[in-house]
Formats: sequence, C-alpha cells, structure tokens
Amino acid sequence: MNRRQFIRRLEVLTGGAAALSAGGCLPFQFANVTVAGRRLLVQTGDIGDRGVLVDPPGGQLPIFVHRLADGGYSAVSTRCMHRGCPVEPTADRLVCPCHGSEYTYAGDVLRGPTERPLRRFEVVAGADVVAIELPAEGEVW
Ligand code: FES
Repeated sequence: MNRRQFIRRLEVLTGGAAALSAGGCLPFQFANVTVAGRRLLVQTGDIGDRGVLVDPPGGQLPIFVHRLADGGYSAVSTRCMHRGCPVEPTADRLVCPCHGSEYTYAGDVLRGPTERPLRRFEVVAGADVVAIELPAEGEVW
C-alpha cells in the first residue's frame, strides 16, 4: 500500500465528511498526475474550485495546486516552513497541525510561528493541463 492508498483508506475509516462538518481539515483529494521529466502534469478539470493535492515522485510531500482568482494556478509544497510538518488544506487556507502556522492557498504566511512562505513551484497553465516545474533532483522541498 502506497502513501496515497493509505491516506484514502484512513479517510474512509475516519469519515472525512465528519471532519469537514466539524470545521476541521477537508478530506484529502488527490489528482492523478503524469510525470514528464521534471514536470508534473495535472488536468485542469481535476483541480476544481478548492484545489487538489498531487503526489510527486521521489517520496516528497504532496504539492497543493489551486486555481487563483485571476485564472492562473499556484502550486506549493505542503512542507511547513517552520519545522517541516505537512500542512493540511482547510476550507480557505493551509494549516500546520504541529504549531499552528497558517498559509494562504498560494503559500503566503497568514499566521506564525513560521516566518517564511511555503515553497512555490513554477506553473505553466494551458487550456487543459497545468505543468508544475519540479526542482532539481535530490533537492528536498
Ligand atoms: S512545523 Fe508547522 S508550525 Fe511548526
């Protein structure tokens, strides 16, 4: 069982809808990706209004992809810039469960203790596909 399968099974067992109705984190939604060299390709139709998580290769934490108000897209690492815990999407922000840092969907800091924004990835958006440019191999993000 890989990480994605584990998270989906956990979501089913714990009742993602219950967490949402209680004001907690949204159920994790992962989009399928195609890996093309150092790019991750995501179908725009899979991103939706709330954004999605995508699993990059190499065991890195997921990337959160979101459609911006101007029609563009953002892609940020879910590794908190305070001490590295995975942030979680909520209805309107990304929240770190470890010490409470909060970020916008585009990675800007809303609340500390972090002082740095989430790692952002370059995004090239086409009509049907969003391409996320990954950092050099071996870089931890
Ligand atoms: S690791 Fe995220 S707030 Fe400390």
